[in-house]
Amino acid sequence: MDVILPDQLPGFLSEKERAHDATTTVAVPGGIARFSQQLRALSSLNARLICMEADEPVYGEMVAGVGRVLNTDVCALFLRAPTAPQLILEGITGAEMPAEHRVVGLDEYRRPAVQAYQEEYVVHVPDTSEAHGAEPLLHGFRSLLALPIIGREGPVGTFQFGRREAGGFANEEIDLASMLVDQMAYQLENLRLVRQLSTSRDAVIHGMARLAESRGGDIGGHLDRMCAYSQLLARRLQNQPGFIGIVTDEYITTLVRAAALHDIGKVGISDRILLKPASLTEDEFSVMKTHARLGAEILEDLMVTHGSFPMLEMGVEVANYHHERWDGTGYPNGIAGEDIPLSARIVAIADVYDALTSKRVYKEAWSQEDTLAQVAGLAGSHFDPYLARLFVLESDELTAIRNRFPD
Ligand code: C2E
Ligand code: SIN
Ligand code: SIN
Ligand code: SIN
Ligand code: FE
Repeated sequence: MDVILPDQLPGFLSEKERAHDATTTVAVPGGIARFSQQLRALSSLNARLICMEADEPVYGEMVAGVGRVLNTDVCALFLRAPTAPQLILEGITGAEMPAEHRVVGLDEYRRPAVQAYQEEYVVHVPDTSEAHGAEPLLHGFRSLLALPIIGREGPVGTFQFGRREAGGFANEEIDLASMLVDQMAYQLENLRLVRQLSTSRDAVIHGMARLAESRGGDIGGHLDRMCAYSQLLARRLQNQPGFIGIVTDEYITTLVRAAALHDIGKVGISDRILLKPASLTEDEFSVMKTHARLGAEILEDLMVTHGSFPMLEMGVEVANYHHERWDGTGYPNGIAGEDIPLSARIVAIADVYDALTSKRVYKEAWSQEDTLAQVAGLAGSHFDPYLARLFVLESDELTAIRNRFPD
């Protein structure tokens, strides 16, 4: 495919050309009212983005916010794919992007989005019907503006704006767009770092949990199943009266990560006890019981040294209280009912369900039927009765999870 340099495309205005008169701009299209509206939209967008958590969806809000500030008909965000030579549409507002255009090859030089990214400069098409070299990804937009998003290590993507009418964007608007995109580049860079950090942090902690678990001889799917059972129950709870606004999507995401940490304290239990292929003596069992408190202490130490975050906070709850019982006869604290954190009440059911349906060094696996009967039978004594009753309704889903993560 021929490479078409941006300057050869009719209707394209290079950044250098624009820079000539950039300093002379005074007029604001739409006047002062429009200007103050833009400022308000901009500051509320920035305020929102600064408070974003690592796993909150951001791109949708970003395009909506930027589109609002610029008052365009369509605003699209493309980001460079991590591995393939492609731009990926991560967010769009004002139009539906056809599926075939959500991924754009970096060799598609006729696409303004690609050009802006590859050449690292602003591509402005005041009238797409006259710019024969440019192939917009969306039809129905006569004016088009594409700006590269330049991160610390070069371009990371493109912001693209469109209007239904021909006539393009005023210089002032292009300046405003450049400034906005620079700010978004900064926000995206921050977000990338935060996500990277949070992913590696989670991975390290999950690795620790796995290590702890593997010593028990369970190198199979136990942790994955635990997380999946907990997630399943939490999803069922999500719309139940009393749980709306408590069991949110965010809560479930955190729970899924924290559930893996429930037995992390088993790192501190000797092989002689942990791997004993028989019933534990009373003394041995009292040592075994320390794994709950020990796990919570390990995670609390991490919080002291590395700061607290939701997965760790809930991890502490889950580790500490997953052997508490609804009737108060559990350990380590013997607390009862709703004094036991919800996360731990959920994980307790998932834990026993998985322990019973699995083979252990000290026991054979139980059938699904016997296990569900046991869980139902323990509703109100061992388990939160409300949760246990919801859980045992999920026979098919539970079996599917076991098949997905075998031992
Ligand atoms: P685990 O094997 O992951 O079991 C978790 C929980 O599932 C147990 O907590 C218990 O509530 C339930 N559970 C597991 N197996 C059975 C069973 O055969 N019958 C009944 N009714 N419930 C069962 P628990 O009892 O607090 O035990 C905590 C951990 O202590 C167990 O985790 C396991 O690592 C260890 N453990 C418990 N009993 C024995 C044993 O007899 N021999 C050995 N070697 N380890 C044991
Ligand atoms: C979105 O906002 O479209 C979700 C993508 C993300 O921010 O991770
Ligand atoms: C648009 O902003 O017009 C959509 C993207 C494109 O046409 O390349
Ligand atoms: C509820 O809050 O609706 C029931 C409490 C529980 O069993 O967790
Ligand atoms: Fe445990």
